[in-house]
This record gives sequence, structure tokens and C-alpha cells, in this order.
Amino acid sequence: METGDIRRVLLVGFMGSGKTEVGRILARLLAWRFRDLDEEVSARARLPVPEIFRRWGEAAFREWEAQVGEQLLREEEVVLATGGGWAAVPGRLAALPPGTLSVWLRVSAEEAVRRALSDGPVRPLLQGGDALEKARALLREREPFYRHAAVALDADQSEPLELARHVEHLLRRRSEGFTPLSAGEPSIHE
Ligand code: S3P
Repeated sequence: METGDIRRVLLVGFMGSGKTEVGRILARLLAWRFRDLDEEVSARARLPVPEIFRRWGEAAFREWEAQVGEQLLREEEVVLATGGGWAAVPGRLAALPPGTLSVWLRVSAEEAVRRALSDGPVRPLLQGGDALEKARALLREREPFYRHAAVALDADQSEPLELARHVEHLLRRRSEGFTPLSAGEPSIHE
């Protein structure tokens, strides 16, 4: 598809917001590659993410995540799904390479926990203690970062296919010269 000056889409948002699923569908719609940051880190470490946290600690995971993120952001015609913590680093969304459309999939703490629990014990940061309390506290910390995305979509109610189609539509309109999308305050589409 003709996407104008946009060469990659970066999906950010909290755990359980659907970044991976939306990303896979969007990549198919655009006929672009799909890359998942957690999967890439896990492949390089040869360990699942929870095991990286357990063996090496969160700080080591964050370092790998940062390195792999930097590499993936050099690719073109790619949809990138990040882990929930990747965008929550000062300056990260402000420093995206040109041609990147950042999309925040907004989810409530309640819905995030509901989805996370149904996936099983794959989210180390929600383990041990009251998952909902943890999710609320983390989300409060992270929302100011996620807000730097160029576009925000409500992912609580919408299906992944609907969200992916929405982004595809935004890209098509942009390539036709309609929608000015720039980093800063996100335009909220709900
Ligand atoms: C994390 C989210 C996870 C994964 C890791 C840390 C976070 O990814 O990167 O467990 O800090 O929110 P998902 O957002 O895909 O669950």
C-alpha cells in the first residue's frame, strides 16, 4: 500500500493492550514485515521473557530491549510491537527516526489485568501481590510517556482487526495528503 512518507509503524501501550495481535494484522494489511520486540529479545537471549527477568533481572532485560529496539527502528516497511515498558523511558518517543508513526493502544488497568491473567503467568511485572493495584500504579507512571505517541486508539472496547484497519486507514489518508500526524499530543480516535 502507498503510505506516503511513513515507512514504519510503532505500536506502544500497556501490557495486554493488544500490540502484538494488532501489529500482526496491520503488517498483513500493509504487506509489511511484523517484528515483536519481546520476541526478538527472547530469541537473542534464547530464553522466554519471564525467564530473562528471573535469571538476569529487569535491568538486564531493559538493556537488551533498548539495544534491540534501536536496531529494529532502522528497518523499513515494518510494523513494530514494543513491550509495555519500552516507550516509558524519557525522550524515547520524542527521538523516533523520521518516517515512524507511533500509535498508542490505550487500555484500562482492569482490562489489561483481565487479559494478562487469561494469558497465564507471562507478565513478570504483574506477578506476586495484587495484580490490579500493580497495573494501576504502573499505568499511572507510564501514561505520560505513552501520550507522546502521534495517535491514540482506545483498545479496551475495539477488536484487534478494527484497530489495525483504523491505522491502515490513517496511513492511506495521510498518503493522500489529508491527515497531518505529528509527534506531540496524540489525536484521540475512539
Ligand atoms: C513489560 C511488558 C511485557 C514485556 C515484559 C515487561 C512491561 O510486554 O516486555 O514483561 O514492562 O510492561 P507486553 O506489553 O507485550 O506484555
